[in-house]
Amino acid sequence: MTEKDFIPQYLDTSNLQKGKFTWKTPSNIALVKYWGKKEHQIPENTSISFTLDSCHTITTLEFVKKKNENSKFEIYFEGKKKDSFKPKIEIFFDRIKRYCSFVSKFDFVIKSENSFPHSSGIASSASGMSAMALCVMSIEKELNPKITDDYFYKKASFLARLGSGSACRSVKGEIVVWGMHDEIGESSDLYGVEFSDAVHPNFKNYQDTILLVDKGEKQVSSTLGHDLMHGHPFAKNRFQQAEENISKMKAIFKSGSLKDFVNLVESEALTLHAMMMTSNPYFILMKSNTLKIINKIWEYRATTNSNVCFTLDAGANVHLLFPISEKEIIAKFVDMELKQYCQNNHYICDNVGKGAQLTSIDKL
Ligand code: PMV
Repeated sequence: MTEKDFIPQYLDTSNLQKGKFTWKTPSNIALVKYWGKKEHQIPENTSISFTLDSCHTITTLEFVKKKNENSKFEIYFEGKKKDSFKPKIEIFFDRIKRYCSFVSKFDFVIKSENSFPHSSGIASSASGMSAMALCVMSIEKELNPKITDDYFYKKASFLARLGSGSACRSVKGEIVVWGMHDEIGESSDLYGVEFSDAVHPNFKNYQDTILLVDKGEKQVSSTLGHDLMHGHPFAKNRFQQAEENISKMKAIFKSGSLKDFVNLVESEALTLHAMMMTSNPYFILMKSNTLKIINKIWEYRATTNSNVCFTLDAGANVHLLFPISEKEIIAKFVDMELKQYCQNNHYICDNVGKGAQLTSIDKL
């Protein structure tokens, strides 16, 4: 599909006065990372992620037909009015208006909450923006009930991407690919697609324990981080390497090789951080406890048969990834050896989930 396919013909809003939709949408963790973008939120390279289950956002979008031309919306986060979130949502509404012109006919109240603590250092933009996109698509479906599920989810992912790139991987499917890649059928730069090639049972119900090393605000916003890839001395090679790593990951999912998975995922995480360390300005986003955890994981693997590995986002927290068969043993490892490096001993146990769910519809 092309960008133009997401611009609907005129949709008549005269029969829709008000209502509300609630979506529960997941966070995701990239295995091959997206870092660097072109204009209009088009990624420089393909990325692939596991959809998470427990780390999610629940958002209700209430809409009421506008009485005058002025745009109006309010945001509540965890029950409190949150004007500081407004600029990001304003940008989102502005970017989607070409594709959802009906939004200009309504006033909105947005009520959102996260399952994970806001100050956990876990990025909430992926789940937050995919929730917004799905709520907007529920309104579009109300106005045009003929749209197919395929169109609904592709366009939701397309809109989510305009809010935050990685959010387009938080809509549908356990494993999601974003970015056009020769070996991934249907893949697109415009939206995420469910990975539909073979996945070995070793990767079913994969586990992710998030070790909260640093709950502070992000040191580098992802907008600045992506910008630093423009003119970055290693950018071209990095983008090329990511495409190759997608091919490798596809083969790993098929073969079930956990050893190769561990190697590729850790290398991707360290490469993401290496890009930040070698940009200008440069950043070190890992904390000393991040490194202590990484060394503990390496020691543990060297002395056991474990297939536990780590990945990192653009921050200091560590995602521990491991097969479900190691759930009990890794829980002990975390308890005995790793949680001491987490702020307030805090960590979150998660696992791969299926994607977003519509949890309530209210047509008033
Ligand atoms: O979606 P953004 O613009 O916040 O970028 C997120 C980028 C990483 O989380 C670091 C990697 C990824 O692919 O999710």
